[in-house]
Amino acid sequence: MPRVMLILPTETYRATAFLKAADDLGLQVVVASNEAPTLATLMEGRVLTLDLRQPVESADRAMEFAARWPVDAVVGVDEGSVVTAATVAERLGTPHRNPVSAVRATRDKRQLRARLAKAGLRQPSFAELDITAGDEALDAAIGISGLPCVIKPVDLAASRGVIRADDRAESGVAARRVGALMREICGDGVLPPLIIESYVEGAEVALEGLVQEGSLAVIALFDKPDPLVGPFFEETIYVTPSRLDAAMQGAVLDAVRAAVSALGLRHGPVHAEVRMDGDVPVVIEVAARSIGGLCSQVIRLSCADAPSEVRTLENVILREACGLPLGAVHMVDKACGVFMLPMPAAGILRGVRGVEEAESVAGITGVAMSIPIGERVRPLPEGDRYLGFIFARGETPRGVEASLRRAQGLLDIEISAA
Ligand SMILES: Nc1ncnc2c1ncn2[C@@H]1O[C@H](COP(=O)(O)OP(=O)(O)O)[C@@H](O)[C@H]1O
Ligand SMILES: [Mg+2]
Repeated sequence: MPRVMLILPTETYRATAFLKAADDLGLQVVVASNEAPTLATLMEGRVLTLDLRQPVESADRAMEFAARWPVDAVVGVDEGSVVTAATVAERLGTPHRNPVSAVRATRDKRQLRARLAKAGLRQPSFAELDITAGDEALDAAIGISGLPCVIKPVDLAASRGVIRADDRAESGVAARRVGALMREICGDGVLPPLIIESYVEGAEVALEGLVQEGSLAVIALFDKPDPLVGPFFEETIYVTPSRLDAAMQGAVLDAVRAAVSALGLRHGPVHAEVRMDGDVPVVIEVAARSIGGLCSQVIRLSCADAPSEVRTLENVILREACGLPLGAVHMVDKACGVFMLPMPAAGILRGVRGVEEAESVAGITGVAMSIPIGERVRPLPEGDRYLGFIFARGETPRGVEASLRRAQGLLDIEISAA
């Protein structure tokens, strides 16, 4: 069987699902991560320690490793490792990989906008904003974006540091707040600028897809039925299939296809967010990874090569990366969805009650709390963890949404001041 290198950032939610899928497929696995496991010496040929912030140096190490243990595919499971994975894959010359420049563009919102704009895609107007710049620079940036605007870091994810501002004063407050977060994250390192964009009205959807030889196939189109109007953009409910009409769904797919080709992505998963400005889709973002957090747990897939098998999203991603049989991919369930539980407040998580009650709601297939009791938590825009996830399946998206809301309403979260 092929040997696959899974590049796992230490903070990822995605490790277990990918390791399980690789195991089910009988793949040989090399776990590459920032930290050496305690028993690394006993796991020769199966682990590799890389500094994920240094893609080129990581590729050197991977080359040395692969000289002894040849690697057939490289998968960066999450936002924090996709650039390193693409760089390693390019150096190793594995067959199913993305150009490094394409993946880099998905990890820098300035490059993303520039590539999409060049390809003529409908875009919010945007400008770069230096964190250390004064009022004049902010005025100039707002002059380009207009108001309301959205101020965000160029290279974070999960809406971290993303703030809407409606006027000049709010924009100043938002820019300082995002700037402080970036200083906290970057420490003494280089401070990347922020990006400021015009605010795009409209309902938002997320497209989960798989690119093969440059061609994008949809795995699922999710509606986000809770309004995402700011000032912070915490994601909550994802439900599929989408209730947008067929013409709009087609327009979303066309827009994401155009974005994938403008970016130059050739292989692997994409997760894209699109807003419907009237009936015109506006691409907010395309990421070269699969859906985040534990959300993929709710996705059950059937593939044309073996229609009776139920596969996970990670199984399908690893098949594509390794060139194993696949065929057209479809969702098994008529409808499914997930509720990402945002942090309701900052402080110490003291208790979560009602999990069993929530799990017993009709349609709910599981509740996974992802923060240990006693841990310090903080909400968006600074926080970067979800409190947990609720999963549901059903006959219709409306029914799934109702199950998720009912279950969420039964959870009682206690957070005390730190
Ligand atoms: N220009 C914009 N107009 C309207 N909403 C936006 C805009 N940019 C971001 N958002 C909202 O913020 C969310 C997160 O922004 P995004 O650019 O996807 O950053 P991240 O990498 O953190 O996911 C989006 O899903 C969307 O709801
Ligand atoms: Mg996003």
